[in-house]
Amino acid sequence: MDLIIASKSETRQRILSCAKIVTKTISPRIDEDSITKSLVVEKVTPRDIADALAEHKAKKVSTKNPGTRVLGCDQILAFEGEVFGKPESAYALKRMLRRFSGQTHYLITANVIYKNAKPIWRHVAISHMTMYPITEAEIESYVAEAWPDVQHTAGGYYFEQNPHLFSKIKGNWFDIMGLSIEPIVKFLNQQTTEPTHQSPKLAAVLGHPISHSKSPRMHRHWLKTNEISGDYFAIDIPPQRFSETLKVLITAGVVGFNVTVPHKEKALALSDQRSATAEKIGAANTLVIDANGKINADNTDGHGFIANLRSHCKYWAPEAGPALVLGAGGASRAILVALLEAGAPKIYLSNRTQQRALDVASQLSPLIEVISWDHKEKYLTKIVTLVNTTSLGMTGKPPLKINISKINSATLVSDIVYAPIETHLLIQAKTLGCTVVGGIGMLLNQGVPGFEAWFGIRPVVNAEIEALVIE
Ligand code: ATR
Repeated sequence: MDLIIASKSETRQRILSCAKIVTKTISPRIDEDSITKSLVVEKVTPRDIADALAEHKAKKVSTKNPGTRVLGCDQILAFEGEVFGKPESAYALKRMLRRFSGQTHYLITANVIYKNAKPIWRHVAISHMTMYPITEAEIESYVAEAWPDVQHTAGGYYFEQNPHLFSKIKGNWFDIMGLSIEPIVKFLNQQTTEPTHQSPKLAAVLGHPISHSKSPRMHRHWLKTNEISGDYFAIDIPPQRFSETLKVLITAGVVGFNVTVPHKEKALALSDQRSATAEKIGAANTLVIDANGKINADNTDGHGFIANLRSHCKYWAPEAGPALVLGAGGASRAILVALLEAGAPKIYLSNRTQQRALDVASQLSPLIEVISWDHKEKYLTKIVTLVNTTSLGMTGKPPLKINISKINSATLVSDIVYAPIETHLLIQAKTLGCTVVGGIGMLLNQGVPGFEAWFGIRPVVNAEIEALVIE
């Protein structure tokens, strides 16, 4: 075992496990409140209060566990000469948020390592946290919703879930989460002849809403199977806070992002460099942050779509004939660009709102011919590829009404909807002898280039991850 951690915090345990540090947790049970109060009376600086509390915890557990390194952690906030710890109640949290609203406070993170009841290493990080001005109504709704999650965190904000509370920060994600992993890894590596640990890298998917996202499950699986030190989060950001929150997350050291509805166009606009594909689609779904904090934007939806089709249907030849694409939204644009790049000689595009299809066609290519939503069936005999890019047929949405009885059985039929796994369109097409490809593989394959750029290994899309994601 590398460390005992004198804390029951799940976040800290997760950070250590991301860095592949083997730990055991023991709760130190010290009376933080009375120690803090006596240190405040003695006019000890906030920095030294945090350090002293971390030391108390490490020392107590170390005394009972000789021979093992014990890590003690503490976090406090300092604002206008006052010290704040965990909020005692929802009421106290509201009072704290009113004080911090629109202001910069300091978040102090202290980590101390003990061995045989003696300190062998210590580190204090001070992060500068500038909060947006928040209205009374926002405070009420935030506290009502977040209290169960945030009551055990210093300051009562859970940065991992609420980075959009901040307009600016100066600090590192792990320091803010309460565990300064980089210096800890450095220290542990110095103690062995063969350094084995690595500081974890972070990536995230940004959307609104985002709780349904399957991306964390997928990327965490790839991190685990490739034995990479890292983590991947889903972060909900309201549209009006997107650009500031992205900057905050980059400052905190997040190395990359997936971006989903409704932020894809904004993500492209904010980028410093963009791929030709993202430019053409007019939206980005993958951001790679370079060492200077610059944003490189790409759109991998089209790549995901094509890779999925090719892996399920070796003989598919998009260049052999026209395609029919249903829908003209964001997903459709990416798929149209990808089909043209793959060699489709012509694409029939059909959308309920015809003007939207006409706009997309005029922006993308003269090879796209807009056809009426009511007469799309007429084109089924001419095509080698049929794709549904609308949300029709998805669980909870209306069905896609199309009679495909005239379709040529050599046509590849694909649906980007993945819930249900097999849509009514695919079931119908299968009974007519067509090869069919569902949407889950597109989701998996669009994630591959981002993961490779952030973590340095190209992950594998296989049946195992497919089953895990559709679970
Ligand atoms: P995405 O970015 O996922 O493609 P979108 O931009 O909202 O999402 O596009 C959704 C697509 O589904 C559009 O083509 C939409 O047609 P409209 O442009 O006419 O809105 C299509 N769609 C959604 N509900 C539909 C319905 N009930 N009937 C027909 N098409 C529908």
